[in-house]
Amino acid sequence: MTYVTQTCALEPEGIIAAANAIKEGKLIAFPTETVYGLGADATNDLAVAKIFDVKGRPRFNPLIVHLPDLESASTIAIFDKKAENLAREFWPGALTLVLPRVVGTTLSLLVSAGLPTVAVRIPAHDGARAFLHAAGCPIAAPSANRSGHISPTIAQHVSEALDNEVVIILDGGPCEIGVESTVLDLSDGDPILLRPGGIPVEALEQALGHTLATLNVEINNPRGPGMVGPHYQPSIPLRLDATTFRPDEALLGFGPTENATLNLSEKGNLQEAAANLFAHLHALDQGDFSAIAAMSVPEQGLGRAINDRLRRAAVPEV
Ligand code: TXA
Ligand code: MG
Repeated sequence: MTYVTQTCALEPEGIIAAANAIKEGKLIAFPTETVYGLGADATNDLAVAKIFDVKGRPRFNPLIVHLPDLESASTIAIFDKKAENLAREFWPGALTLVLPRVVGTTLSLLVSAGLPTVAVRIPAHDGARAFLHAAGCPIAAPSANRSGHISPTIAQHVSEALDNEVVIILDGGPCEIGVESTVLDLSDGDPILLRPGGIPVEALEQALGHTLATLNVEINNPRGPGMVGPHYQPSIPLRLDATTFRPDEALLGFGPTENATLNLSEKGNLQEAAANLFAHLHALDQGDFSAIAAMSVPEQGLGRAINDRLRRAAVPEV
């Protein structure tokens, strides 16, 4: 079924219309501080199945469930002391915790893609939380792009990718952080970093008092089904660590350079670079170039998330 997609300001009227659409089992898009999400009622199997269909997402790749506060999150996920401490320190915010599902929860099984865990997050975005309150149910929401493509950081990216698939796009302007949440698996023993993101790994390590293990993707670890292979891909090839570029290539700059077609941050500021990353990739992808040459970004703070996205954008499609 297709819809005439309506873009609404993130105001009470639009929020109520979006919440009503959710209650009818429909899909809507909403802004968060990281990227725009494609939301559905996480307790409604058919609505969750629609997310997978619309995105073209493999069914083995589970979804993040969004809630307005820790109290509601505790009704679907089991928080031990470590999880509760991290939640209290970093929520609302760009941290997703993978935790055991509460037994007997009404959450759709599809959300977890067969795993005994659920990924939960409370966004640090007033409009997003107003929508979550109005919906009154947990909201499953991956990034609002087609699977494997560039994530959306403005409402227009969503309408370009998902026109006629969602009923409403709530337009809250550009996303402040611009890269997805950090995903931390606390479901079994030592914490494992599944995805670097908007909360720097260094901040988590400081809170935990130790360095974080990362997922060993070589052994095809079933705990991180979404972490392997190409993703965030423009339609033209992207190469990394560029110092020079060909006339037919666009140069995605970082730091002071006169040659950049677009610069993530001339000042070399990683927050600014993260906020610009996906919008610049979208823009260069729509330009008249045959490839993108990306300059290197330091592997620290938000730079880890930026490099993760660039590396996966650079994997050749199979
Ligand atoms: O910032 C974000 O996290 C955005 C906004 C909308 O909240 N959402 C987002 O969702 O990035 P998505 O679906 O694009 O990425 C979710 C990642 C995937 O890599 C998925 O594999 C992982 O989280 N994930 C979800 N549930 C999981 C689980 N139970 N166990 C392990 N990984 C999980
Ligand atoms: Mg995504």
